Amino acid sequence: MDRSGLSILITGCSSGIGEHVALALHERGYRVFATARRSEAVARLKSRGLEALQLDLDDPSSIRSAVQEVLSRTGGSLYALFNNGGYGQPGAVEDLSRAALRAQLETNLLGWLELTNAVIPAMRRQGRGRIIQNSSVLGFVGLRLRGAYVSSKFAVEGLSDVLRQELHGSGVHVSLIEPGPVRSHFRANAFLAYRRFIRPKDSHWRETYARAERRLTHHERDAPFTLGPEAVLKAVVHALEARWPRARYRVTFPTHLFAVLKWLLPTWAMDAVLRAVSRGENR
Ligand SMILES: NC(=O)c1ccc[n+]([C@@H]2O[C@H](COP(=O)([O-])OP(=O)(O)OC[C@H]3O[C@@H](n4cnc5c(N)ncnc54)[C@H](OP(=O)(O)O)[C@@H]3O)[C@@H](O)[C@H]2O)c1
Repeated sequence: MDRSGLSILITGCSSGIGEHVALALHERGYRVFATARRSEAVARLKSRGLEALQLDLDDPSSIRSAVQEVLSRTGGSLYALFNNGGYGQPGAVEDLSRAALRAQLETNLLGWLELTNAVIPAMRRQGRGRIIQNSSVLGFVGLRLRGAYVSSKFAVEGLSDVLRQELHGSGVHVSLIEPGPVRSHFRANAFLAYRRFIRPKDSHWRETYARAERRLTHHERDAPFTLGPEAVLKAVVHALEARWPRARYRVTFPTHLFAVLKWLLPTWAMDAVLRAVSRGENR
């Protein structure tokens, strides 16, 4: 496959999955527009040979100018979008303020929607395109203390399922990637969000939070079945290059396991499994 003319815009390339996928696709011959919200991250990406641009998903004007810049550099075409930038807001549902949930949805949902809608006209015009959504295993099962993040990923899954049908026949394909634990800065960034919005002292959940804090700050200990970001890359490459990309890519053993269990078990039994998992990880 000749990939030299194929361009892709990726969000959240300052670390983790976005950074890995951007560098690997560049190596593979794609024209990669790697974006990050902080200027020092943009400079670092440029120094590694990528076409890097500033894009903050919380800021509509930054989304608009990044898309304009990409389309003006490519003469109005864009083959693919990898919606990836995001973070996890920890906290029990009863401790979530409106501000905390709003911030979570601004980044993980509304920013993705706005960016996607900004590139769809170019994809429709060219009669082909790939929209790849980095969802999560938590896009189809919910775990305690992750309600904000779970709601953002369930919403991404719902929007993507509808968008896939609306784009049917246009040549533009929508794929969801559903990773379980992947090595990245995710936990460190989740800890920042936890500190920003959760007041553990006043909470019914304070003892669980104390244990969760240890988990979020012990970066050297991976969760069971953690894979490197190359596992996500494999799915992204298939979603980009297969003639018929899949609607869903399940990545990591926990994702496959939970998909089967959700299919097999009644809700009460699935809840019991999920409660046991979150008790285990916050021991
Ligand atoms: N790691 C996992 O276990 C896992 C599992 C399932 C799904 N995912 C998904 O994978 C995606 C990437 O996460 P990761 O694991 O690679 O974590 P990560 O290393 O923390 O990377 C997250 C990226 O998103 C960026 N980001 C955060 N807020 C943003 C905003 N407002 N605008 C633009 N970019 C923003 C971060 O930028 P800053 O450096 O500026 O904060 C960073 O570049 C996320 O959507 C996440 O939900 C991760």
